[in-house]
Amino acid sequence: MLYNIALPRRYAIVPAQKLNFFWSFKIMAFIVAATGNQHKLAEYAQLLADQDIEVKSLNDYPNYPEPEENGSSFAENASIKAAAASKYCDVPAFADDSGLEVEALDGRPGIHSSRYAPSDPERIAKLLKELEGKENRRARFVCVIAIAANGEVLETFEGEVKGTILTSPRGENGFGYDPIFQPDGFDKSFAELTQEEKNRISHRAMAYAKALEFVDEELSILDGGF
Ligand code: IMP
Repeated sequence: MLYNIALPRRYAIVPAQKLNFFWSFKIMAFIVAATGNQHKLAEYAQLLADQDIEVKSLNDYPNYPEPEENGSSFAENASIKAAAASKYCDVPAFADDSGLEVEALDGRPGIHSSRYAPSDPERIAKLLKELEGKENRRARFVCVIAIAANGEVLETFEGEVKGTILTSPRGENGFGYDPIFQPDGFDKSFAELTQEEKNRISHRAMAYAKALEFVDEELSILDGGF
């Protein structure tokens, strides 16, 4: 059992489940849950590079039975994925759910972003077609990260980046809808930014920063409150 370690007496006042979670955080893996998406993993690997945390992904658990993502929001889907992964892998887990919301399409493709069409080029083509003749090309990328332990979700964190949908794809980097999304304040699409530049402003980076703040705060309560 991963959490079966002798704890100093001062930790005794902390609720057992929380303590197990944050104590284990200090000593072991933090899993990127429910994604085999190499692009996402690469972004998280860079975001987590400074942390003293071992990152694993579900690729390290080849028999993992992926849960059905049947939530009706990014937060619900992220929670389903994080809870299932933490239970199966028996370590704290985080999962994200993300997508593109386009104003003129009443928020579509939203939580259906990855299933909007069979491939990235087809998804982009479909979106551009639906926006033909529309003046309003405002959109936002949203990412919700859920953190879970022992099958229970502890918190969710939302990040967003606002921008405009271009009229044709530009750039070779990134993935998904990156070539047609131009973030506010830039004259380049996400796919024309380097991964480092994208990671400074992306929806995933924003959600990740909030999640890390939460973890740091909880750890400092454990470390300093006695
Ligand atoms: P999921 O979060 O793995 O369910 O899928 C999110 C889908 O939204 C991806 O497959 C992409 O189509 C899209 N998406 C999410 N984040 C990004 C991003 O940073 N760039 C481009 N597309 C994204």
